[in-house]
Amino acid sequence: MNSGPLLEVENLTVSFPSRRGELRAVIGVSYSLYPQQTLAIVGESGSGKTVSCRALMGLLPQAAVVTGSARFGGAELLGPVAFYQNAAGAVPGAPPSRDRDEVAR
Ligand SMILES: Nc1ncnc2c1ncn2[C@@H]1O[C@H](COP(=O)(O)OP(=O)(O)OP(=O)(O)O)[C@@H](O)[C@H]1O
Ligand SMILES: [Mg+2]
Repeated sequence: MNSGPLLEVENLTVSFPSRRGELRAVIGVSYSLYPQQTLAIVGESGSGKTVSCRALMGLLPQAAVVTGSARFGGAELLGPVAFYQNAAGAVPGAPPSRDRDEVAR
């Protein structure tokens, strides 16, 4: 049985550039969520709860700068290749590698 974390967030940061400088909405958030666990994120209004979760789901405006790592079931959610499309729809992670001959056909 796989007893590893379902969701592993490491050093998540989100900032929004603006004319008045950089607004740092989330600074260095890390947590692990295991199967069967419930995690409550608690903090004052404006402390970054919504922004941190939207970052994991890829639902921030393009201007947002997201760094760190978030793995769901081992697949990286952040970075340039967050999702790829296959016959089943949008799938998190990097596409499976294919050899060149197969791609050329
Ligand atoms: N699209 C955006 N552009 C610029 N700043 C943003 C944007 N979205 C959120 N922020 C800022 O990021 C910070 C964190 O906001 P967030 O909505 O995550 O707070 P929250 O903890 O969910 O608050 P609440 O408890 O009120 O829901 C705030 O300073 C907010 O103004
Ligand atoms: Mg909120």
